Amino acid sequence: MGSTKADIAVSYDVSNEFFRLWLDESMSYTCGIFDDSDKRAEMPPPGHPGERSLEEAQREKHRILAGFAHLDRSKSFLDIGCGWGANLEYQATVTGVKHAHGITLSEAQAAEIRRRGLPNVTAEVCSYLDYKPSQKFDSIISICMMEHIVSPQEAREGKSIPAYRNYFRLAHEWTKPGAYFGLQTILRNFVPRDRQDVKDVGWVTYEIFPGGITPRLEEIIAAVNPYWEVLEVKTRRLDYMKTTWHWRDRLRRNEAKIRAQWGDKVYEDYDRYLSTCVRGFEKHYQSLAQYSLKRID
Ligand SMILES: C[S@@+](CC[C@H](N)C(=O)[O-])C[C@H]1O[C@@H](n2cnc3c(N)ncnc32)[C@H](O)[C@@H]1O
Repeated sequence: MGSTKADIAVSYDVSNEFFRLWLDESMSYTCGIFDDSDKRAEMPPPGHPGERSLEEAQREKHRILAGFAHLDRSKSFLDIGCGWGANLEYQATVTGVKHAHGITLSEAQAAEIRRRGLPNVTAEVCSYLDYKPSQKFDSIISICMMEHIVSPQEAREGKSIPAYRNYFRLAHEWTKPGAYFGLQTILRNFVPRDRQDVKDVGWVTYEIFPGGITPRLEEIIAAVNPYWEVLEVKTRRLDYMKTTWHWRDRLRRNEAKIRAQWGDKVYEDYDRYLSTCVRGFEKHYQSLAQYSLKRID
């Protein structure tokens, strides 16, 4: 079952204005790409001269995923877990796709997409489990939505791979033969052992993203079969360390405003959550992967 609609409201419906203060201008709430080279595992710490801005890093992510999903002006695509519409907007306005459709479980996110009034973009509040498209898509992009598919309890009960396989089965059903899929997921790697890290990682899992848990790379690789062929996988752990560092930096620059408008608890919870993320990516508790998948026909 994973995150319910009520869980999703905890994670994403604090207030669109709150998230606008510390995300990039497109409100992309996933890892941006600061370094796409073979040196990305040795990236210097945030803030070095010549580094991409957070805005540029987010656009680079959307550009890479457009390539992984083989998008062009003749294509229609589905964004599973489309957030506030950053990827829909990029692909409709920069790539120039024919039609971009998004599904999200968050009412606040769908309201923001409607507010943007984007050309050739539609979106709806719907769980992927209930989604029945009226036509098949040429491509799919899904950016850090799989983290909501199973709960920690379900993962302990061994339900992850069957649930991920069901998601890949549905994605296969919604596409035309020959479709490509640009996927991005956080990865669960080392188990934290340090006492404070155990507490903080558990707290983020249950308080900030209730109902969900990040997948392991081997689970995704097992679950794509027999629906999608893995053409390419790139891991980008330090890119997410940098992205969460930038988010925390922007959050801290807006401390007074956030405390005044949303209260001390919201500010302190988000500072703790983002600090845990920065440390978690540094210490290999989490990583990030981007995948190019091709439909098996
Ligand atoms: C971390 S956000 C990522 C948003 C966006 N892809 C981005 O890059 O900014 C996860 C997204 O998955 C969506 N989501 C979670 N569970 C879902 C479900 N069962 N069906 C559809 N969307 C879901 C949330 O509503 C949210 O939009």
